[in-house]
Amino acid sequence: MIDTVMDARRMEYVPDQCFDLVVDKALLDALFCSEHNLKDVDDLLREMLRVLKIDGIYFVVSHAPPNRRMKYFQKIFGNAMEIQSFKVGKSLIFSLFIAVL
Ligand SMILES: C[S@@+](CC[C@H](N)C(=O)[O-])C[C@H]1O[C@@H](n2cnc3c(N)ncnc32)[C@H](O)[C@@H]1O
Repeated sequence: MIDTVMDARRMEYVPDQCFDLVVDKALLDALFCSEHNLKDVDDLLREMLRVLKIDGIYFVVSHAPPNRRMKYFQKIFGNAMEIQSFKVGKSLIFSLFIAVL
């Protein structure tokens, strides 16, 4: 196991299709609050699509309900995904599963 720090929008030394699973807990949400949020979110999701293997899973924990996030996923992943989402507990925390097909 390798422990490293890098910009998730540009993971320069990470080869294509090398991960089975990416876990994102509030990174996507954080980028939505950034100055250049739409570009940052696009860049992040493009990197997820690049680094995940076929059938890889992008697991996102977000405070936003799924309908507030779907259009961003659909823009980048298009038909190359299957989304499952569910609400966790009584809070506003939602989890999204995205399987890149
Ligand atoms: C809301 S915090 C969530 C931290 C942690 N995952 C948690 O749930 O407690 C967002 C995190 O994203 C990191 N972050 C922001 N922009 C990033 C980027 N471009 N690449 C990688 N990490 C980033 C921040 O440093 C921060 O630790």
